[in-house]
Amino acid sequence: MELKKSETIKNLARAFAGECQAGARYQFLRKQAMQKQLPYVADILKLLATNEMAHAKVWFDIIVGCSRKLIENIEITAGYPYKCGNFEQRFVNEMENEKSEAQSIYPEFAKVAQKEGFDEIAKKFKMVAEVEKVHAKIFEQLVQKMQEDKLYSSDKSTVWVCSECGYQHSGKEAWKVCPLCSAPQGAVKVQIEMQ
Ligand SMILES: [Fe+2]
Ligand SMILES: [Fe+2]
Repeated sequence: MELKKSETIKNLARAFAGECQAGARYQFLRKQAMQKQLPYVADILKLLATNEMAHAKVWFDIIVGCSRKLIENIEITAGYPYKCGNFEQRFVNEMENEKSEAQSIYPEFAKVAQKEGFDEIAKKFKMVAEVEKVHAKIFEQLVQKMQEDKLYSSDKSTVWVCSECGYQHSGKEAWKVCPLCSAPQGAVKVQIEMQ
């Protein structure tokens, strides 16, 4: 089957749109995190936005590279998340969005690609699903810490690190203002697994 005439090319276009939107939402949320004096959380969101734009480029490159003749337009029908809510709720929303990408959207796209004979594309859909699974886990940890008000405190002694100057200190609670560089508490590295 020619990719140009497949359902897979539509799924690539759907995926491209979805990744661009996730990348945009994470940049919007990053701005909010900066306004809330949470620069380290903002750094995490920047990294996630970078990942999503890289995913978008993978799909875009496959689409524009699939035909010598210019593809002028791809018509798709698709739904995308527009959940609203306050700052914390938006992390919950993104956790859910990432889970649905990892657990249903990309696996379904991979299945269709496989059926249509595009093994390499199927493999990439599965690889991105794995990344989204990690993203969901990152959001899940942030949500849990925010809900328990534990971004900067812990039940056990923890090594807290300032993401600005590298100052470290162990204890159950991080400082309010970095004693070395005076960065706000939000610059303290949040204790979450990033992989
Ligand atoms: Fe992505
Ligand atoms: Fe993601």
